[in-house]
Amino acid sequence: MRSAFYKQACRPLGAFAIAVTLCTFAALTSVPEAFADETGASEITLPKMDADAGKSLFADRGCVVCHSINNVGGDTGPSLDASNLNQSRDPFEFFARMWRGAEPMLHLQQADLGYQIDFSGQDLADIFAFVQDGTMQEGFTEADLPDHIREIIDNGPSIPQE
Ligand code: HEC
Repeated sequence: MRSAFYKQACRPLGAFAIAVTLCTFAALTSVPEAFADETGASEITLPKMDADAGKSLFADRGCVVCHSINNVGGDTGPSLDASNLNQSRDPFEFFARMWRGAEPMLHLQQADLGYQIDFSGQDLADIFAFVQDGTMQEGFTEADLPDHIREIIDNGPSIPQE
């Protein structure tokens, strides 16, 4: 049997606790929305990704010098086959990892191309789409390599010595 004290003090407290829990949950779950409005994040636009364009860019911009796809390309960096389980499916993570490899990539560009390759956001989106697209990758062959890139692969990339 409940004591009078329970009825008077604890029951309302119990209801209060439930209300607090519900309100906290509601507040927490609504945070992302509020955040989006405050920062304008709700206006973020993502480019349309084109794996076919990415295939040309992957060869033309020199990624293929150090990364192979479908057994085409160098092995200085990890293979970017879509079947590679370590491959990041998250574009932000993908480019964060790419950033970590930036030093040898920039060195190669300066040494072998004489300039730093410029990418637009669209270019990067297309490259990401190609890297994720196993079917498109099956059609990637030596024939896709422009001459100047093929030459660099044959000579080996100019990676800085540790
Ligand atoms: C000069 C050689 C070179 C070129 C050119 C190059 N990379 Fe890399 N890349 C590397 C190396 C080396 C690493 C590994 C860095 C590490 O492990 O710290 C790497 C890492 C990466 C990673 C991270 C892989 C992982 O799983 O952590 C991605 C993604 C990547 N490169 C994408 C690209 C793309 C896309 C291009 C073309 C725009 C490119 N790379 C051009 C050498 C290169």
